[in-house]
Amino acid sequence: MIIIKPNYILTENELLKNRAIAFDKTIKSIDDFNILHVKYPDAKIVELEKNSLLMPGLINTHVHLEFSANKTSLEYGSFLPWLNSVIKNRDDLISTCNDECMKKAIDMMLHSGTTTFGAISSQGLDLNSAANAKQNVLFFNELIGSQAVMADALYGDFLERVDASKSIQREGFYPAVAIHSPYSVHPILIKRALEIAKNENLPLSAHFMESDAEKQWCENNCGEFATFFKEFLKQDYSVNTPDEFLSLFENSPALMTHVVQATKEQLQKLHDDGHTIIHCPVSNRLLGNGAIDLDVLESADIPWLCATDGLSSNYTLNLFEEMKIALFMHHGQDLLPFAKKLIHSVTCKAADALNLNTGYIKEGKNADMIILNLDEVPNEQLELHLILQQYKIQSVYINGKEAL
Ligand code: BEZ
Ligand code: FE2
Repeated sequence: MIIIKPNYILTENELLKNRAIAFDKTIKSIDDFNILHVKYPDAKIVELEKNSLLMPGLINTHVHLEFSANKTSLEYGSFLPWLNSVIKNRDDLISTCNDECMKKAIDMMLHSGTTTFGAISSQGLDLNSAANAKQNVLFFNELIGSQAVMADALYGDFLERVDASKSIQREGFYPAVAIHSPYSVHPILIKRALEIAKNENLPLSAHFMESDAEKQWCENNCGEFATFFKEFLKQDYSVNTPDEFLSLFENSPALMTHVVQATKEQLQKLHDDGHTIIHCPVSNRLLGNGAIDLDVLESADIPWLCATDGLSSNYTLNLFEEMKIALFMHHGQDLLPFAKKLIHSVTCKAADALNLNTGYIKEGKNADMIILNLDEVPNEQLELHLILQQYKIQSVYINGKEAL
């Protein structure tokens, strides 16, 4: 048992002053230090500095570790030129990103307070690094391939990767399934993978309506993707319309990533089927995909979470930086309430969407916590300053163990 004595504890809806927290793997009690000391006389006591703040560890629901070698190789500004540059540089980027490169990406998340991440894995090359990470990991084995002739081979490879991830037996590691997108996965493959996810209760993720090019191709078989598919895959029609894609997910709530270009009707369906939207503002800006309308999501009562995406479409995996960009991108939002929503989106709301026992500083929750030192006594705009100032993360606990 450990008892930590921070000056402040940020919970879901209040800032506690001069309370201590007792925990082992889970949070046992939050109370006056003297009461906890009597209750747990053998606990190790950790005294913290002036203006120290303890808050929930952050949850980054969408990252691509295998592409962590990218700094300046990919072309930003518009979706299709970026995708073509990924295809052109893919082998180089993937072969340069060894375990050390992926560890660096994972450490970047740890040092910026991320205690849980969702790794979208396209080839399983990141399995080792994810298994060895200190964080909780949802390991999303991604299925991709629109050509029917390739379906069996691709599905076999996908199953092998799912099995390999299931063989990782460690606390806080969860095998999961990702479907790449409506334009890139054959419906037969989607059906088969969703059945596995359902039977084995695996978390699900997908990209959906990210770019205008995706919308035009999937809805009307035209636009920039028409040339791409004709040239590379000899296809004249999208393998799924957006509505067909969503119908496949009817009984499979998923993390639907980007969703910048969805129609009102598609958003209604996302709501009705219990999906959660993953919002990656930096990636959306760099790939020329626009800014999602969060007011529309909120009036449709669809939960949304902020995430970084991978280093193939971002310059950092720091969620505080990502929230800062979101704060400036969505300039119509009321500043302080929006800062609070952003912090909830990477803590309690993310845990709710993933059904994980984390994301809250509350008795019974896993002790996934970060500690930072504020420069000054916090005021009523604390959440805003947490995002603006990017205070150094002093320590990190994951499942009660000191991870930093
Ligand atoms: C496909 O396999 O169909 C595909 C893969 C990547 C991008 C687009 C399509
Ligand atoms: Fe992604």
